[in-house]
Amino acid sequence: MLFYKFIKKLKLFYYRHKGIKIGKDCEISPQAYLDCHRPNKRTTMLRIGNNVRISRWTMIVVADTVDLDHPEIPWNKRKIKYSPVVIGSNVFIGAQTVVLPGTTIGENVVIGANSVVKGVIPDNVVAAGSPARVIKKI
Ligand SMILES: CC(C)(COP(=O)(O)OP(=O)(O)OC[C@H]1O[C@@H](n2cnc3c(N)ncnc32)[C@H](O)[C@@H]1OP(=O)(O)O)[C@@H](O)C(=O)NCCC(=O)NCCS
Repeated sequence: MLFYKFIKKLKLFYYRHKGIKIGKDCEISPQAYLDCHRPNKRTTMLRIGNNVRISRWTMIVVADTVDLDHPEIPWNKRKIKYSPVVIGSNVFIGAQTVVLPGTTIGENVVIGANSVVKGVIPDNVVAAGSPARVIKKI
């Protein structure tokens, strides 16, 4: 338990060191993955508010190399496209969710387990599914 808490703190430190802005009282599962890619050291691609819980196996992604305009280029040589992700305060993200590049999640939001989130999720809602849709207002 003590070791688990240590790993959690270490990962928070690591993510902040890598330029992710993380507010106060956040709990990020050590089994979650936050994408640390950024075009340069001055840019912040992922902002997380206060009191945010990110559950196990969740993945938050800010970059991709799909670039469908250049199918002739091998995947690993295509240009990286960055799109920032913003997560408001008082947000709970359920287990095994994927938050895709360019997404904004509002304040006071619950994202259901196993969702795929893309686009804008407004304040004060529960959203779930793939793609995630508002299922309830809070
Ligand atoms: C999103 C959540 C909070 C909603 O709970 P709830 O308010 O009790 O919602 P309900 O069970 O009343 O479901 C409402 C509707 O949303 C659907 N729904 C609920 N959770 C869903 C999910 N994760 N994905 C897709 N649809 C979901 C239900 O099937 C239901 O649909 P219907 O109206 O067509 O029957 C809950 O289902 C959830 O996913 N919790 C996260 C659990 C988790 O990841 N814990 C992490 C532990 S480490």
